[in-house]
Amino acid sequence: MLQHVTRRLPLVCCWLVGVAALPSDMLNDKICGTTILPRIVNGNEAQDGEFPWVVNLHSTTPDGVVRCAGSLITSRHVLTAGHCLEADVSKIIVSYGSAKLADSQEVPVKSLIRHKNFNTETLEHDVMVLLLADDVTFSRYVRPICLPTPRLDPQHMAGMKALVAGWGTLHDPSEQRKNPLLKIHTDSMMRTSLTLLNDSTCAQLSGAAAGRNLYIEGSQICTFDVGTDTCVGDSGGPLFARVKSRYYQIGVVSGGQECAGAHPGVYANVYTYITWIMRVVNSLG
Ligand SMILES: *[C@@H]1O[C@H](CO)[C@@H](O)[C@H](O)[C@H]1NC(C)=O
Repeated sequence: MLQHVTRRLPLVCCWLVGVAALPSDMLNDKICGTTILPRIVNGNEAQDGEFPWVVNLHSTTPDGVVRCAGSLITSRHVLTAGHCLEADVSKIIVSYGSAKLADSQEVPVKSLIRHKNFNTETLEHDVMVLLLADDVTFSRYVRPICLPTPRLDPQHMAGMKALVAGWGTLHDPSEQRKNPLLKIHTDSMMRTSLTLLNDSTCAQLSGAAAGRNLYIEGSQICTFDVGTDTCVGDSGGPLFARVKSRYYQIGVVSGGQECAGAHPGVYANVYTYITWIMRVVNSLG
């Protein structure tokens, strides 16, 4: 998570009652999206229990460690980005239960389903659901996030603030090439608050990039703020908004052109994937 710095790449539950298609034990509707802590104004480092649904994913590959984030949507399912897919599912480790990676609990991944129309070029349909090898035990530090309700269509939320949290780099990795002493990795979960854009502003700002318009109206949403942004390793993490006393996930961190530069951060629009998520959770078991 990048704070007040200047640059992006593909950055690596529950419903309200009354939605008949969802089995009630999957909704976690008694505790989803609730936290033990008040919101921390201007805080950068997240506290334990502040966002108990945010998890870290890492996998060791021949090319190094691949990091992403994700969110607990049930005690056994994690929502993340499609571009976080690793060929060897059994190598993906999910860390949860603490803002500090060193204090986290770990669980391997048993299987996963990525959206079959995920497009690596445009990052359209950049969503994936993981089935954990074991259930996590809910506590003050481990809780699912709520999925958006029909009233939480982000198309109607432009101008509002939403939060992201994760362990992504603190600066664009290119900054470190210029200054090798710059600390870019963090063991602590970082959080920031970002402004949701409407479609026209997002298309306009994204289209200013050379060559491609990294924004697909409808299936994606975006945020923009000067000096703060998601960055490499934040991919797959949740963008979430507080409504009354609960947090609802409205986006999955997907991509952008640099971290905290001139272009918006782009997210899969969770609202448009609710039916897909439910189907996949059911079929994963
Ligand atoms: C989108 O947001 C911009 C900037 O806030 C505003 O000027 C514009 O009128 C909005 N467009 C629509 C269609 O709401």
